[in-house]
Amino acid sequence: MGYNLKMRVWRGDESGGELADYTVEVSEGEVVLDAIHRLQATQAGDLAVRWNCKAGKCGSCSAEVNGRPRLMCMTRLSDFDPAETITVTPMRTFPVIRDLVTDVSYNFEKAKQVPAADLGPRDADGKRRMMQADVQRGQEFRKCIECFLCQDVCHVVRDHEDNKQAYAGPRFFLRYAELDMHPLDIHDRRAFAQETAGLGMCNITKCCTEVCPEGIHITDNAIIPMKERVADRKYDPLVWLGNKIGIR
Ligand code: SF4
Ligand code: F3S
Ligand code: FES
Repeated sequence: MGYNLKMRVWRGDESGGELADYTVEVSEGEVVLDAIHRLQATQAGDLAVRWNCKAGKCGSCSAEVNGRPRLMCMTRLSDFDPAETITVTPMRTFPVIRDLVTDVSYNFEKAKQVPAADLGPRDADGKRRMMQADVQRGQEFRKCIECFLCQDVCHVVRDHEDNKQAYAGPRFFLRYAELDMHPLDIHDRRAFAQETAGLGMCNITKCCTEVCPEGIHITDNAIIPMKERVADRKYDPLVWLGNKIGIR
């Protein structure tokens, strides 16, 4: 059964913009991206929106629906009251290009900084061997679709533009953890993660985990273990105190 959905959509570009009101005909079973596409097809032909798969797998359609970072293609209209006005805005943490499309190149710059894996020497027979349990540990992290919703929600950069230089963000802490947990990797990137990538600035608010459409336990399975790895003699306040009073 169809109904008329009231929508407010942010329209504008880097020089500014505003919320525009629309009423769009929608059908049962549709998602926010369907409503945006119908709006584009019938009333706002110049509305800019990025999308690709419409299946929650390409990570392109990230935006904020009623202020919450979400994939538009995976946000069902049935989650909202039909009488409610749905507000769709671009991701707040990244600069707007136009309408719902943001410039996410901050993330690509952070990706370039991740020190690559260094697998060390091969076994005598030229092969590399790993335990299956060790392989499986990083599998969860490989589910990342690079939607950057976790980057968008993290208050360290969402509310503080000037932190971007020194902070890689949860998606890349995931990558640091994945590489560090690789059973054959011999590269020690702990100091880099802590000092250059800003791991120490994360204060474990877990908002990143809450918005991840892949359900990756970013904080518990990647960030906290990575923080434990860097908490060596230099960073652990208890060890530091022990050194000071001569008990370690
Ligand atoms: Fe998106 Fe989750 Fe990957 Fe972050 S970790 S970019 S929220 S899929
Ligand atoms: Fe940000 Fe996630 Fe840490 S939201 S503060 S990276 S736990
Ligand atoms: Fe690909 Fe939404 S269109 S994740």
